[in-house]
Parts: sequence; structure tokens; C-alpha cells
Amino acid sequence: MNTEQLKKIAAEKATEEVRDGTVVGLGTGSTVYYALLKLGKMVRDGFSIIGIPTSDGTEKIAIEQGIPLSILAMHPTIELTIDGADEVDAHLNLIKGGGAALVREKIIANASKRILIVVDESKVSRVLGTSFALPVEIVRFGWEATQREVNKICGKSDLRGGIENPLVTDNGNYILDCHFDGIPEPEKIELQLNNIPGVVENGIFVNRADKVIIGTPTGIKYME
Ligand code: A5P
Repeated sequence: MNTEQLKKIAAEKATEEVRDGTVVGLGTGSTVYYALLKLGKMVRDGFSIIGIPTSDGTEKIAIEQGIPLSILAMHPTIELTIDGADEVDAHLNLIKGGGAALVREKIIANASKRILIVVDESKVSRVLGTSFALPVEIVRFGWEATQREVNKICGKSDLRGGIENPLVTDNGNYILDCHFDGIPEPEKIELQLNNIPGVVENGIFVNRADKVIIGTPTGIKYME
């Protein structure tokens, strides 16, 4: 099986836990994409859900799939969220934000009773921050000063997209990709980064995932 097939089996497995008539958080990324396709088919076959998307991109796909959508103001409690991750450790801590949706993803995660993370096996890591740079969303005003403060914690970071053509998130902000030499204490680093003026949010998710569904060449594996 190739990586796309591993993503697909993990994402489709997660949709089996979605209950009829519930509010579902819709994550962002190339793995969740397969869950959106499956949920769309389920809806077209008569299944009833209300989706709360974590990004403009996911909103667009969900609309194309015919999934009814709403907003947190109308549905402040989400029954189940299906989302992806860039790196996962054995304690179910995550790095997210490779798709630049980390702020909305963390807001949706915080409003969710249960969170399923869908990944292929390449995302599993012994220590966070060893295989993926940590995304940190920062406001544009004074971003160079914010980057200097962020670098005191991580050592080195890159403005995503580069200075000539920086990526702008759905929230109108920039992303710094921070190169740690491992993040053995993710809870501490999550708080330290969020304490810097100009930082909106960072991609460390601690104690949020309830189950990680992993696509592997020998089938589905779980961490919970
Ligand atoms: C979006 O900002 C991210 O948090 C994604 O959930 C994460 O990057 C996983 O994406 P892929 O499934 O495309 O790897």
C-alpha cells in the first residue's frame, strides 16, 4: 500500500465512529480529505450530521460533498472531531499546523467531547519535534520581533512561504516553522510560546487526542 492508501484506510475507519444526528468537527489536511469524501457519501445515502470545518479549505470540500455545515456559535459543543496530525508521540501528543489551520483546529478541539486523529504510520515519532518543524501562527504586525522571541525558545525558525511571498493563514496571520531538536516537554513549550506577544497559537496539542488511528501496510493500528 502507498501512503495515500494508508491515509485513506485510517480516515475511513474514523468515520465509523461518527453517530447519526451528531455535530462533527471536520479537520484539515490530505488525510482528513478521505474522511470528508466518506462522510459526504454517507450524507448522500441518508446519514444526518452537521459539520463544523476547521479551515476555509475544508469548508469548500465539505460543501462540494454536500455535508451540512454550521458554526460554533450555533453548536458550541462538538460530539466528535476527526483531524490529522504532522507528528504523534506515544502519549498522543501532537504537532499540527502543516496545513496552516492550527488555530481553528485547536479551537474546534477545545470544543470537542472526543477527538480522533488519523495518520499514516510515518507520522508516529518517539519525541515530538524531531521529524517535523513546529508551526507557530503569529500576527503580521512586528513579526520580525516576534520571530526573535520565538527563536530564543526553538533556536531557528523560517517564515512559511519566505519573505517575498509569505503564506497568509485563514485568519490573516503568518506562520513560523520552528526547528527544534526535539520537544521532550511539549506542555511547557506550548505555554512558553503562547506567552510571547504576537504569537496567536502554536501547533503543539497536549492531552487533546482520545485515539490515534494509524494506517499501516498490515492494516489499522490504534493508540489510545
Ligand atoms: C492542518 O493545519 C494540519 O494540522 C493537518 O491536520 C496536518 O498537517 C495533517 O495534514 P496531512 O494529513 O495532510 O498530513
